[in-house]
Amino acid sequence: MFSVSAITVATLLFSSQAHAATYAITDNYVGQSLLDAFIYDAIPDPTNGRVVYVDQTTAVAQNLTYASDDSVIIRSDSTTILDPAGAGRNSIRLKSSKVYTNGATVFNIRHMPEGCGTWPAVWSFGETDGAQWPALGEIDILEGVNNQPNDQVALHTATGCTVPETRDQTGTTLMTDCDANIVGNPGCGVESASAVSFGPGFNSNGGGWYAVERTADFIKVWFWARNDAAVPSGVAEGSDSVTTDNWGTPTAYFPGDTCNMEKFFGAHNFIINLTFCGAWAGADDVYSAAGCPSTCVDYVNNNPADFANAYFDFAWIKHYD
Ligand SMILES: *[C@@H]1O[C@H](CO)[C@@H](O)[C@H](O)[C@H]1NC(C)=O
Ligand SMILES: *[C@@H]1O[C@H](CO)[C@@H](O)[C@H](O)[C@H]1NC(C)=O
Repeated sequence: MFSVSAITVATLLFSSQAHAATYAITDNYVGQSLLDAFIYDAIPDPTNGRVVYVDQTTAVAQNLTYASDDSVIIRSDSTTILDPAGAGRNSIRLKSSKVYTNGATVFNIRHMPEGCGTWPAVWSFGETDGAQWPALGEIDILEGVNNQPNDQVALHTATGCTVPETRDQTGTTLMTDCDANIVGNPGCGVESASAVSFGPGFNSNGGGWYAVERTADFIKVWFWARNDAAVPSGVAEGSDSVTTDNWGTPTAYFPGDTCNMEKFFGAHNFIINLTFCGAWAGADDVYSAAGCPSTCVDYVNNNPADFANAYFDFAWIKHYD
């Protein structure tokens, strides 16, 4: 008896130390330093989007990325009518130069791309040492299509990572198996309960804060709208330290009990991208259910001015370890 309870006490003490959730800032990206922390990933879109991810020279020349002291704009072309037989709409995919594992990252976002056909995302995945996706996992933090009101968080992994249906989160479980090899690769998604967490609603509300925390034991994602009185101290101010224990119930909680986090998730690059149409936004049923006109590709080809609001405005990104 005595030895059992001694072990229990030791375990509790050890785990509370191991999970001490106060973190200190390691990366503070604002204005030009935010753009400088990313490379322009001018690759073909793996999801067959109606997009051309441009390089840095083109982005700067066309003013598709722009930094002032406290704002970073990341956007698509909104002036060119596209040749249906030619390439897609110029846009941006940024990939962080640094990789990140455990810790907390906060994204202070004022505006995100909106509009029919848009598929913006802020996410992370691993490709260290040539590992092939999804060996090191993918975490979709902010993602959705076609002006949907609610954000969709998801993990995508190799086979063998699942999460319980019911868990301590405010969002709705969409899938419990994170396996990217399942047909259609839905991932283990969670729909946010906030109708201002994505698209036009997010933008008219002034955006808000997205945050992700990774430990050896779990992944959590939070969203606080700009006017949410519950935004924790430290987050809104962009403090030099944050205590995630004070952040309340997350939008999405992925516990490690039936998903070995250290096995399925490696060092990740953060990605900020904006594609059009493709496998999700452009799927006929998804596109028309959103009340969007014509076909996705025709719409993106012919209505450049409708993409004037297809831009991110980041106030800052901060990482804490
Ligand atoms: C852009 O983001 C979406 C959403 O995560 C992703 O599925 C797609 O593969 C991305 N495209 C590129 C080229 O990164
Ligand atoms: C580039 O975009 C920014 C942000 O929208 C704008 O303030 C600036 O005037 C633009 N620069 C040029 C040369 O158009």
